[in-house]
Amino acid sequence: MSRIILVSNRLPVTVRRNRHGIQELASSSGGLVAGLNPLHENRDSIWIGHPGEDLDSATTATLLERRLVPVSVPVDDFRAYYNGYGNSALWPLFHYLMERCEFQPAHFAAYQRVNELFAQVVAQHVQPGDTVWIHDYQLMLLPQLVRERIKNVRIGFFLHTPFPSAEVFRVLPQREHVLRGIMGADLIGLHTFEYADHVRRSLRRFLGVESRERSAWIDGREVRIEAHPLGIDVKALREKAFSRSSELSLARYRRRLGDRQVILGVERLDYTKGVPLKLEAFRRLLASSPVWRENVVYIQICVPSREEIGSYRELKREVERMVGQINGLFGGPGRVPIHYVYRSIPPEELGALYRLADVAFVAPVRDGLNLIAKEYAACRDDGGGVLVLSEFAGASSEMGEALRVNPWNMEDTERALRRALEMDYGERNERMVPMHKRVLTNDVHRWIDRFMSALLNPRAVSEDNPPLLEPEVLANTMSNHFAEARSALLMLDYDGSLREFTDRYEDAAPTPEILNLLDAISSLPNVELYINSGRDRETLEKWFAGRRVSLIAEHGFWIRRKDESAWSRMGPQPNTAWKEEVRPVLQAYVDRTPGARVEEKSSGMVWHYREADEDLGAWQALELAAMLEGRLANAPVQVVTGACIVEIRQQELSKGRAYDFVRGEREDYDFTMVTGDDRTDEDAFERIKSGSYSVHVGTGSSRALTSVVSPAAMRKLLRLLTSARQRAHATANRGRNEGPSKPRRYPDQ
Ligand code: UDP
Ligand code: G6P
Repeated sequence: MSRIILVSNRLPVTVRRNRHGIQELASSSGGLVAGLNPLHENRDSIWIGHPGEDLDSATTATLLERRLVPVSVPVDDFRAYYNGYGNSALWPLFHYLMERCEFQPAHFAAYQRVNELFAQVVAQHVQPGDTVWIHDYQLMLLPQLVRERIKNVRIGFFLHTPFPSAEVFRVLPQREHVLRGIMGADLIGLHTFEYADHVRRSLRRFLGVESRERSAWIDGREVRIEAHPLGIDVKALREKAFSRSSELSLARYRRRLGDRQVILGVERLDYTKGVPLKLEAFRRLLASSPVWRENVVYIQICVPSREEIGSYRELKREVERMVGQINGLFGGPGRVPIHYVYRSIPPEELGALYRLADVAFVAPVRDGLNLIAKEYAACRDDGGGVLVLSEFAGASSEMGEALRVNPWNMEDTERALRRALEMDYGERNERMVPMHKRVLTNDVHRWIDRFMSALLNPRAVSEDNPPLLEPEVLANTMSNHFAEARSALLMLDYDGSLREFTDRYEDAAPTPEILNLLDAISSLPNVELYINSGRDRETLEKWFAGRRVSLIAEHGFWIRRKDESAWSRMGPQPNTAWKEEVRPVLQAYVDRTPGARVEEKSSGMVWHYREADEDLGAWQALELAAMLEGRLANAPVQVVTGACIVEIRQQELSKGRAYDFVRGEREDYDFTMVTGDDRTDEDAFERIKSGSYSVHVGTGSSRALTSVVSPAAMRKLLRLLTSARQRAHATANRGRNEGPSKPRRYPDQ
C-alpha cells in the first residue's frame, strides 16, 4: 500500500505554552482529528498540519518522531486565514449562517498564502507513489496547488463540514476560485449524498463543469465526487468507555446523581451546535412539567473552541447566562438542573457519560456529520438510551431510529425530550439496537478503506473509450473535409450533447447560444442539419419551430424535414398494448423513488430519475430495467437505460435506424457527422462507415470514433466547423466574383 500524506489545518496535537512558558502537547478536539487518528496510527503515513504556535526545536523533534510535520505560518497570516477566511467566511457560510459571515479580501489573500505554504511543505515531502489526502474547508485551494507542483500524484480531498446548496454557496465572493481548488483532487469526499449533489450543482452553475453520476470533468481530467460518511473508531472508543477508570467515573456520577434521569450534551462551544436553543427547550420542559425539575439533570459539556473569535466569546457569555438563569429558576437546595462544564474531558469520562445518559441531546442547527451521536450509539450495548437528534446533522440520514427534531422548533424539541424521558425500555431498545449495530459495522476503518480504495482504484478506463480530444484539435482534423464537402449531413443528438442536462427534464430548452449556432449551421450552403432526439415531437416542435432544422423525434418514430409542415411516421403503426401493463409498474417505482417521474410518448414510455437521489435512482433503475425485461420478453419492445432514464420503446425503433433512413434518402453526402452522449446514440455510431465522423460527448466507453468532454466542447467544435465552411465559401464566392450571397459570419469563439 502506498504511503499516505495526510494534510489538515490542525495536527492531532496542539502545542500550547504552560504557565512557565514551556511548550506542551494537548490532544486536539473535533471530528476531523477523531477520524484521522486511527489512520495515522495504523498506516504508513505522515501528517502535515499547523501545530498551534511556533515551535522550539525540542517540540519539533517530538512531533517528527510521531510522523507529524509542522507547517510554520506567520502569526498575522495565520490569524487572517484561520479566524478570518476559514472561520468567519467559509465556516458560517457552509453552515447556512450567512448573517455571521464576514468576507474581507485581505482574509482571502492570507488564505491563499497559507494554502501556498502548505503546498510547499507537501511538495517537500511527497515521494513517488505517495497518495495525498487533504482535509477540510481550511485547505480548499490546496488540491489544485499540489497538482500544479507535482504531476502524477493521486490527490483526495474530504470536506468535514456540510457543502451548502448552490444558492447559498453563490454568496461566496471567491466561489469559482474555491471550486477550482478542490477540483485539483481526483476524488472529493463528503459526508452525505446531499452535500455531494450540492457540489455538483455548484460546479455546473459557477464553473460550467458538467457532471454525470459521480464524475465531473475538468481540463480533460475526471474528478469523482462521492459520499463517504465518516465513522468512529469503535474499538478505541469502547476500550476507553469500558475501562476501569471509566467504571470508576460512572460509579461516581451515579452516586452523585442518584435516580435522576440524565440528559447529556457534548459539543465544541460553536454556534452551529445550537446550545442556546437546546437550553431553551430544556427550560420549557422544566417550566411546563414540574415533575422533571426533581427527576432530571442535564449535563452539558462545552469544549472550548476558537476563543479568539468574537462571536464564540459572545456565545460563551450567552450560554453561561442561560445556564445561570435556568438553574436559578428551577434549582433548589442540593439540586442543580444543569451541570455545565466548560473544558475538554478525557475520553474515559466521556465514555462513562455516554453509558450513564438516558438521553443524548444532539441538536445542532447545522452539522457536517456529528460524531457524538455515533459515539453515544456505539456505547449503548445495553440497548438503552434515547438519541434526540437534529435533522440538520449529516448523521441523521444514517440514524433514522433517533427522535429527530428541528431544533428551531422549540415546541417540537421540548416534546421530543419529554418523549425520550418517558420512553419505556422496550421502545428504547427497539430504536437503539439497529443504530448501535450500524455504527459498529460502519466504523472509521471502513470509511478509510472505502475512501482510499475509491481513490486508488478508479474505475478502469475501458479500452473501448474513444480518444477524448479538445474541440480545436478535433476541428483541425475535420474542418477541411467539412469546408470542402459538396454535400454534408450533420445529425446531432440534443440532450447531453448539444445542451447540458437540467434538473427538470422540461427545462432543457435551447439557449440563445444554441439557437444562434443552429441558425448559422443551417444557413451554410449544402448542409443538411438534423436533430435526432428521443424527445417527443411536441417538445421539439415547440423548441425549433420556424428554424431550418430537420427533426427526428422518439428515436426515429417521427420525422419532420425542414421544408415540411407536418410530421410523418418513419415506421409502421406501433402496437402499444404493453403500455397498460407497464404504466402501473413505472408508477410504483415513482412512488418509492422521490423525484422520479414517468413520461409517456406516442411510441414508448420513459421513467426519469434525474431529480431523484442519485444513488437511490440508479439502484431503482437497475431493478426496474431487469424487471421490465422479464415482463416484456414477449412484447415488441426493448428496455433501454440511458442518462438517468429507463426507456421502453418499440423494438424496431432506434436512432441508428433513423440515421439509415436519412442517409438512404440521398446518395450524395460526402461528409457525415453523428453526435451523441448515451446508449441510444450508440446504434447510430455503430452504422458510421469509414470516411464519416462520430463524436461522443463525455468520457466513458462508446463506439464513436472520437469524443469531446462536454456539450460546451461540442458547441465549440460545431462553431469551428461552421466558421471553416463559411470561410471556404466566402473565398470561393470572391474567386468566382459572384454577387453578395454572403453567408452569415459566425465568430470562432
Ligand atoms: N471530543 C473531544 N474532546 C472532548 C469532547 C469530545 O475531542 O472533550 C471529541 C468527541 O469524542 C468527538 C469529537 O470531539 O469525536 C466531536 O466531533 P463532532 O463531529 O461531533 O463535532 P466537531 O467538533 O467536529 O464539529
Ligand atoms: C470541525 C472542523 C475541523 C476542525 C474541528 C475543530 O470538526 O471540521 O476542521 O479541526 O472542527 O475546530 P478547530 O478550529 O479547533 O480546529
